[in-house]
Amino acid sequence: MQSDDLKSLVEAALPAIAAADAGALEELRVSLLGKNGNVTLLLKSLGGMDPDARKQAGAEINLVKTQITDALLARKTVLDVAALDAKLAAERIDVTAPPRPDSTGAIHPISRTMEELAAIFAPMGFAIAEGPDIETDWNNFTALNIPAHHPARAMMDTFYLQAPEGQRPPVLRTHTSPVQIRTMLDWAKAHGLAENAPPIRIVVPGRTFRADHDATHSPMFHQCEGLVIGEGIHLGHLKGVLNDMLRAYFGVPELPVRLRASYFPFTEPSMEVDIGWSRKTGEIGGGTDWLEIGGSGMVHPNVLANCGIDPRRFQGFAFGMGLERITMLKHGINDLRLFYESDVRWLRHYGVSPLSPASLHEGL
Ligand code: DAH
Repeated sequence: MQSDDLKSLVEAALPAIAAADAGALEELRVSLLGKNGNVTLLLKSLGGMDPDARKQAGAEINLVKTQITDALLARKTVLDVAALDAKLAAERIDVTAPPRPDSTGAIHPISRTMEELAAIFAPMGFAIAEGPDIETDWNNFTALNIPAHHPARAMMDTFYLQAPEGQRPPVLRTHTSPVQIRTMLDWAKAHGLAENAPPIRIVVPGRTFRADHDATHSPMFHQCEGLVIGEGIHLGHLKGVLNDMLRAYFGVPELPVRLRASYFPFTEPSMEVDIGWSRKTGEIGGGTDWLEIGGSGMVHPNVLANCGIDPRRFQGFAFGMGLERITMLKHGINDLRLFYESDVRWLRHYGVSPLSPASLHEGL
């Protein structure tokens, strides 16, 4: 191997490398440094040389190898950067572009109500909790202080599922209240005896089921439960939360809210929640009539105890309301069945653009 040959090899290779695209670069690498590449073969030929010649040729060939290796790497880096730039440019998202007109869909009014409730309760420190549609008899009834043959079970027309012989059948939850039980059980396990147990503050929007169907009842409907447990929680907290929440939801700053004595097995005392309205005009907050929108009360000590929470140390309040009910009131919708008929014209009218999320800042 002559130095001249080496020199011409390098002089041919380097410009070719510098001009190569990704495919050509790989071909060059193989033809130069691959198993049968020119440089590799030269290195192999060293074995047949006498020691002195080998020493000199070896140094020269290795120098060439280094030059070519460096050139290949440099070109590859340039090509990689260019490819990445091209990809970034092609996939760029213009976040300042105006939104497309939303002719494609709308948020269902019930979903919207859930989003609005989340927007109202989150700044008050409530988390969203969820539970399954299919519940145990214990979570849906017994733990809520509704024992097996209690008349309160008859208040709810329950859908029962099949159960193995001798077991109580699971139910389609008749209310969101079983999520109170799930939350308190988890909480008691984690914090029940701790000195600085954090309070529970949850709201539970979700589907509920009862065997009932007419203009004001649907077998599937929605509720939102609320639960606060802590030390020194009292009825004033309940009233304050309901006042703020209802005033924000209906957008009526002075909305009259009335708590009226009632009965629920899982609260003591129990209260119906009424808001002021006009029966004649339907105006919320106007007139002298009252409209019931939910139930509430101080969590019954039996319910706390059922969940492993010491009722002498912890107190709390709970409330529950129907989402169809408050949505109908807010938007003047007069038939519950419209929510589930999937009439696109109705959905377009009462639905909300997905591009305007519920927020207290803009008003609900
Ligand atoms: N679960 C009740 C129902 O479905 C509503 C309710 C009343 C929930 C009082 C509560 C409450 O949390 O305290 O009719």
